[in-house]
This record gives sequence, structure tokens and C-alpha cells, in this order.
Amino acid sequence: MTFTNDQAFHALWKRIFKERGLDLSQYREKCLKRRIDVRLRATGVDTYMEYMVVLKRDPSEYDRLFDVLTINVTDFFRDSSTYRIIEDKVIPELVSLKKKQGKKIIRVWSAACATGEEPYSIAILFHEILRDRIDDFLISIYATDIDEKVMKKAKKGEYEAGSVSKVDEKILRRYFNCNLKYNLKEEIKQMVRFKRHDLISDRPLVHLDIILCRNVLIYFSRDQQVKLFDKFYEALNRGGYLILGKTESLAGKPAGLFQPVSIRERIYRKK
Ligand SMILES: C[S@@+](CC[C@H](N)C(=O)[O-])C[C@H]1O[C@@H](n2cnc3c(N)ncnc32)[C@H](O)[C@@H]1O
Repeated sequence: MTFTNDQAFHALWKRIFKERGLDLSQYREKCLKRRIDVRLRATGVDTYMEYMVVLKRDPSEYDRLFDVLTINVTDFFRDSSTYRIIEDKVIPELVSLKKKQGKKIIRVWSAACATGEEPYSIAILFHEILRDRIDDFLISIYATDIDEKVMKKAKKGEYEAGSVSKVDEKILRRYFNCNLKYNLKEEIKQMVRFKRHDLISDRPLVHLDIILCRNVLIYFSRDQQVKLFDKFYEALNRGGYLILGKTESLAGKPAGLFQPVSIRERIYRKK
């Protein structure tokens, strides 16, 4: 039986799901093809059918395929204007709400955190804002990603000079030990807990005050995005914040359940 390239493409993502549990059916097809094509070229084959043969012959190719599928690009304080609002508005408002409620626990989720710069940036901001009042609160930042390899790097909290080049000198001195590499201080690392989590198939975390889900939704189909917005709504405490990437926006029915804090920075609050 001969397959068209489209049929072979679907057979390929079914194979990937069966062998490695990654459900590509919820990702945008165009985006997936562009990335898988990178591996087709690298392995010297022309069709998805031939690529399946490559995967069968050399299962280590799955690792290289996952590297191109899970674009892990990230940065400390990525999009400084977004972090300015988190620093000036989101965290101070949350802190004063907690005080008013007489509550100490603050729970943050960095969903699809890649190599950890995002959750660590949030931990640094809490320290910058609360200073010696930091121990008045029990702050847990949960950081998750589907890619175990990046999580391993994230847990180490060790970064090359290039990854911190845009970080303010003062912040670098306060929160990093610098030798040849930049190592985050224990007080920041201990605030962040890393865990593998697939946004599509795993249950979301619960009782959260802030969810950051940035620069990953763009890879998902619209239907999948709306399903996630529903889950995030359920996962947030009343008045909790949802922070998306700058090119992502709330859509579908859940959009009506949040009020914008900053439309430009894609920051929303659960009504
Ligand atoms: C571009 S990075 C975003 C990092 C960070 N949030 C930021 O905005 O800088 C996208 C991350 O999404 C992760 N990812 C892709 N599909 C995922 C899924 N189904 N569940 C959880 N993480 C996923 C990738 O492994 C990658 O680390």
C-alpha cells in the first residue's frame, strides 16, 4: 500500500504517540511539519514514510526530533515590559490581598518553563519586592515542562554568561554566584520546584495565584488553547492572574471569565 505524504505524516505522529507518548494531534500542523522537515533534511530523506524507517532503525533519532519539536528558547525577564507590570502591579496587589485575607501561602505555576529562566525571574521579583518580609509568606513556584532534558538543566540553576547578558548588574550581584558560570543562589533555587508535565494530557495544578503560560500556546491548535484556558480558570484562585506570551491571547468562552489587567502584555485576572 502506498501513502500520500499527508497520510504518512499522520501515521508518523501516531507512531510518535505510541512510542513516546507525545500527542502531536493537538499541535498546529503547519508548525509541526516545518520542524519535522528539519529532521528529514538532516537525516537525508525526502518523505515522512522514509523518516519513519529512520526512526525504526535508529531510535535515538527520537531525541533529536524532540529537540526540534520542543523549541526551548527562553530568557530571564523575557519581555521586560511584561515583567515591569508583574513587578509594579501583579505581585504587590497579590501580596496586599493575601495580607488582607490573613493568608501566607502564595502559589505560582510556570507552565512550559523550558530551562527555568521564567520561574527563577519570578522568584527574584518576589525577593526584590518583599525583601526582609519574604519569610512572612510561604511562596511556592511550580515549574513544569514536557521536556525532561531542559528540566534537568533548569534544576541546576546554572547559566552561561550569554543567558544572563540582559540581566541588571544589581540583580546579578544579589542573586547569582559568579565564577565561570552564573549560579543562582540557594534562596532563589529553593523557591522553585520542577516537575515534568504535559499541558495536553496531564491534570493542571490547583489553588494557584499566578499562572504563567508563555510562548507555548502558539504551537497548539485553537481548540486546544481554549481547553487550556478552561483548565487555567479552574486552577486559579479567585482574583488569580493568568500571564500569556506577547503574541498569545485569551480566546473562546473562557475569555469572558477573566478581566484584562494589561491587554498589551497579555495579563488577565480571574473575575
Ligand atoms: C519557547 S519555550 C517557552 C519558555 C518560557 N515559558 C518563555 O516564555 O520564555 C516553549 C516550551 O514549551 C514546552 N512544551 C511544548 N509542548 C509542551 C506540552 N505539551 N506540555 C508542556 N510543555 C510543552 C517546550 O518543551 C519548551 O520548553
